[in-house]
Amino acid sequence: MSEDPEIEALFENNRRWVAEVIREDPEFFVRTASQQAPKYLWIGCSDSRVTPNQITGLPPGQLFVHRNVANVINRTDSNCMSVIEFAVRVLEVRHVIVCGHYGCAGVHAAMTDHLTEGPLAGWLDGIRNLWDHNKANLLKGGMQMAEARMVELNVRKQMLSLCQTTAVEQAWQQRKYLHVHGWIYGLNDGLLRSLYADIGSISERIRAESESTNP
Ligand code: CO
Repeated sequence: MSEDPEIEALFENNRRWVAEVIREDPEFFVRTASQQAPKYLWIGCSDSRVTPNQITGLPPGQLFVHRNVANVINRTDSNCMSVIEFAVRVLEVRHVIVCGHYGCAGVHAAMTDHLTEGPLAGWLDGIRNLWDHNKANLLKGGMQMAEARMVELNVRKQMLSLCQTTAVEQAWQQRKYLHVHGWIYGLNDGLLRSLYADIGSISERIRAESESTNP
């Protein structure tokens, strides 16, 4: 047991939360301990201000979550790929939400980059490439606009990357209901917004890819 009050506070919060949950729903932990059946997989940024269950109002058991710096979905990342495979094949989630957020420090780092070594520099390679391709055009509106737009484009890029994973492709081949959503969260107002049309089949994916290459 820790004597650090910063840590002890968390256990106190936890006990208070358990008491509240049981007061509202005495069977909650009995019920949820036996199984999880989330309809949603959330892939978002690790940013401490973007807390998926809280901002969607979902209790434990309803949201399967993967978070990393700048909500990157990369086929060489076995962590993220395993989460997607488990969520789609085993849990059979019906929706995958890729959620970026304005003011993302990961996207900002990829654009302004002073990082030349270390794992984070490599992690942000894909976003750096996206910036290199769109920089000239986006900077016409100034740096602040460019950053907001880059956050949005990154959601698009990761959405399309998700649609190309084996798990998602096979679900569509098997005619399973699986919709991919691209959202953005506003740190300023706490609101979620849908940025792009949902993708729910291979033909919709192909259409989305052609729109993205020919804007
Ligand atoms: Co972020």
